[in-house]
Amino acid sequence: MSRIAVVPGSFDPVTLGHLDVIRRAAQVFDEVHVLVVHNPDKQALLPISERMTLLQKSIAEAELPKNIVVASWSMGLLVDYCLEVGATVLVKGIRSQIDVAYETPMVIMNRSLANVETVFFLTDPMHAHVSSSLVRQVADLGGDVSPYVPPVVAEFLSTVG
Ligand code: PNS
Repeated sequence: MSRIAVVPGSFDPVTLGHLDVIRRAAQVFDEVHVLVVHNPDKQALLPISERMTLLQKSIAEAELPKNIVVASWSMGLLVDYCLEVGATVLVKGIRSQIDVAYETPMVIMNRSLANVETVFFLTDPMHAHVSSSLVRQVADLGGDVSPYVPPVVAEFLSTVG
């Protein structure tokens, strides 16, 4: 039986921390779906279609394994997408105890809703301070974001800034 995992997130935009978790998930699971989901708690910078394009280009640029697909979901619960594609596992990157506290209720809810398990990948310490929201802030204020995002994203942000 092939093991399908979903890596969900806002990816607004994708960072090097995200890319590292996606790469590692692709080594552990047979198939990895990177799923762009609208987060109503966050003020979005980029439309979902642009986030998907940047993800696809970043994954190609980094020569990540071919068992990764990029998709988006706006049709309901995250676990509905999992059931539709036969995914049994969600993968989340964890930078700190704050992330654990944020994720814990969602882990329990997703298991309660559809028996979908969540596994945590600890972020590489070199990316522990990197978040999409800080990247947006640094870019907005004219800072250099190239240490934190894939080259294609740094290039994109320099043109929209
Ligand atoms: O990158 P983010 O913004 O931290 O990702 C958060 C995300 C999209 C993973 C989270 O908002 C989420 O799981 N949304 C799906 C909505 C859902 O199914 N909610 C009910 C069960 S928790």
